Amino acid sequence: MKSTRTVLITGASSGIGLELARCFARDGDALVLTGRDPAALAATAEDLRRAHAVTVTTFAAELGTDAGITTLLGQIAAAKLEIDVLVNNAGFGVHGNFLTLDATQELALTTVHLSAPWRLTKALLPAMVARGRGGVLNIGSIYSFSPAPWQALYGAAKSWLLSFSLSLREELHGTGVNVTILCPGTTLSRFRTRTGHRDRPSWFTQTSLEVAVAGHRGFRRGRALVVPGVASKFYVFGARVLPTSWLGRYVYYTAYRLRGMPAPRLSEGKKS
Ligand SMILES: NC(=O)c1ccc[n+]([C@@H]2O[C@H](COP(=O)([O-])OP(=O)(O)OC[C@H]3O[C@@H](n4cnc5c(N)ncnc54)[C@H](OP(=O)(O)O)[C@@H]3O)[C@@H](O)[C@H]2O)c1
Repeated sequence: MKSTRTVLITGASSGIGLELARCFARDGDALVLTGRDPAALAATAEDLRRAHAVTVTTFAAELGTDAGITTLLGQIAAAKLEIDVLVNNAGFGVHGNFLTLDATQELALTTVHLSAPWRLTKALLPAMVARGRGGVLNIGSIYSFSPAPWQALYGAAKSWLLSFSLSLREELHGTGVNVTILCPGTTLSRFRTRTGHRDRPSWFTQTSLEVAVAGHRGFRRGRALVVPGVASKFYVFGARVLPTSWLGRYVYYTAYRLRGMPAPRLSEGKKS
């Protein structure tokens, strides 16, 4: 039987969000997709309607500002959409030394990764609980489990999202509403190329499709946490067993030294 759920996915114009949209469309779910590029969203919606005969609504929304989040909430309310599943996926990274990164970009980063999931969940969760079904799928990161030097705010935001997800999950126990967090490692998408990183398949990378399929399956099974792929599982295991004081170095060795990438140190040329 076809699903009758409506699934809102933020950041569905590319990468993991787009592949999650395909997964939910295969279930027959109606979709509400957001991104910043109306043309990209329209093209995605058309593809999904044609391939899966599902209803797709799109809202162009800037989630890096409070005003943009308010606009999206207004659009959802005006369209009288009942959202059964909220997927908090939209996000971007900034990479570099905290002392030199641009504060305006950092504000947008914390807004898209913290305020947007918080405000959308706050607005949409009560109706899910009243209906006794539905859920929230948050997209965290392996950095939800460790610090992220040279992406300090990004790592902090993803740790916040892990704590938020697991807290909500416990509070919602017995309501019929599920909360899952998907914590991928390096995933081939526009995410890394936007921050100027190389994006080549490797033993530690996964495709957006692999990550989305694992997250969708875990969410359907009501899992608390999904860490897709062996390399990411290994990383998270390391982050959980190592002493806290070693974790910054752990990231330096796994994310930079092991991959032959220079870390943007302030003490250029000094021994690290
Ligand atoms: N790729 C990785 O290695 C990796 C690893 C762990 C976790 N993640 C997380 O996975 C999620 C999806 O990332 P991805 O890898 O699929 O990257 P992606 O291909 O760059 O997709 C990001 C999506 O978020 C949207 N978005 C970005 N900034 C936005 C803003 N300010 N307002 C509204 N929408 C915005 C983008 O829309 P536009 O097209 O309008 O920019 C796009 O649809 C993110 O939360 C990211 O932190 C990624």
